[in-house]
Amino acid sequence: TKQIPKEKGLDQSLTLLNEGYRYIPNRRRNQQSDIIQTRLLGKKAILISGEEAARLFYDENYFKREGVAPRRIRKSLFGEHGVQGLDDEEHKHRKLMFLSLMTPERLEEIKKITMQQWKKKIDEWKERDRVVLFYEAEEVMCRAACEWAGIDLSEEEVGQRAREFGQMIDAFGGVGERNRRGKRARDSSEKWIQKIVKQIRANKQKPAENTAAYIISFHRDHKGKRLDTHTAAVEIINVLRPIVAIGRYVVFGALAVHDHPETLPKLRAGDDTYTTMFVQEIRRYYPFTPLLGAIARKDFHWKGYPFTKDTLVMLDVHGINHRADLWEDPDVFMPERFKEWEGSPFAFVPQGGGDHYMGHRCAGEWITVMLMQTSLEFLTNHITYDVPEQDLSYSMVRMPTIPKSRFVIRDVEEREKLA
Ligand code: HEM
Repeated sequence: TKQIPKEKGLDQSLTLLNEGYRYIPNRRRNQQSDIIQTRLLGKKAILISGEEAARLFYDENYFKREGVAPRRIRKSLFGEHGVQGLDDEEHKHRKLMFLSLMTPERLEEIKKITMQQWKKKIDEWKERDRVVLFYEAEEVMCRAACEWAGIDLSEEEVGQRAREFGQMIDAFGGVGERNRRGKRARDSSEKWIQKIVKQIRANKQKPAENTAAYIISFHRDHKGKRLDTHTAAVEIINVLRPIVAIGRYVVFGALAVHDHPETLPKLRAGDDTYTTMFVQEIRRYYPFTPLLGAIARKDFHWKGYPFTKDTLVMLDVHGINHRADLWEDPDVFMPERFKEWEGSPFAFVPQGGGDHYMGHRCAGEWITVMLMQTSLEFLTNHITYDVPEQDLSYSMVRMPTIPKSRFVIRDVEEREKLA
């Protein structure tokens, strides 16, 4: 048995909040180790990093998810009783419900819807002095998400609903007011969606049978029971909210184009291979999910290190995407690196690792990649704009992070259609 290098101090919850995306990488550097023992939320926790560590983290013989998310995260970002905290048979059954939404036809549909929603913005933007891309992207994604998912969204409430989804996402690493705002947003959203679920079940609203609203409202759990209306609302929100989150990656995409103008002609050429590489590199390079947690199911040894039952284990998600043993020049933005990339499910983990069906890896990875491509195509091929002087830097402490100015554009013009 080897000893896990140990961080000093009573509790590092504040250090985590103070160091954000660099928390685990900093501990790795200080301890010269990819496994570190610490204390978080008053309990012993183990931090792990690397491809092998990710493989371990996703092995369900050793880890479970029930009880991982602290209350402040369940009350804001995730919701109670959602798929994120389920295990085993119950999880696989619920997960299949999400994955059943992702048929090729339905993915094609959300792509079309999203492009239409972007295009509807052009006339309004042409008239405006400045357009804040982040808020526009969240709104466009909210409109597209609701339309695709079969959720009625009136013109009057778009602003509010988009803002609420954004606030739930923003609450993740927030304490105080930012977290309370996320909780209020969740309460309001859940009330709204629960009402819709009741109407759908009473046949007073009839979304198409292949939509998330329909499928989740009538879903039966692994024991043949319908989800209670609250859980159904939580799971519908688990589809809508993360689509709105794609707005953050759209902003990082616009930032990447701005910082690397040599990529613009390549993106405009409409070569799918290049846009895919570009999107993958955005998901690798820019910080979004900092870390993930799981709880040890039993006592075991890994590489000679002891893990004890019920210990919280945190995986270095952002750090893994920037590890020098997995990525050449990890801190350089270089879409071409994905040309030769073999695609290990444990080395590239912006939306989790492992298998989509068997584990907790993100159910929306395909939608994310597609809508990032669609959005980039819109921004590069359908319009032109100026990026005025502004503070485009983003904090590596704030979780989730976003450029400080939220990416302001101006002088938006519709691009001449190429003959
Ligand atoms: C899970 C990230 C978009 C639905 C996750 C996880 C991460 C993640 C890190 C957790 C993986 C784990 O626990 O091991 C993201 C990011 C997104 C995004 C960064 C884009 C900005 C989406 C979209 C959808 C979606 C568009 C649905 C339409 C889900 C669901 C889960 C999940 C349902 C829970 C899966 C489970 O627990 O089995 N996502 N996601 N996500 N994501 Fe996403």
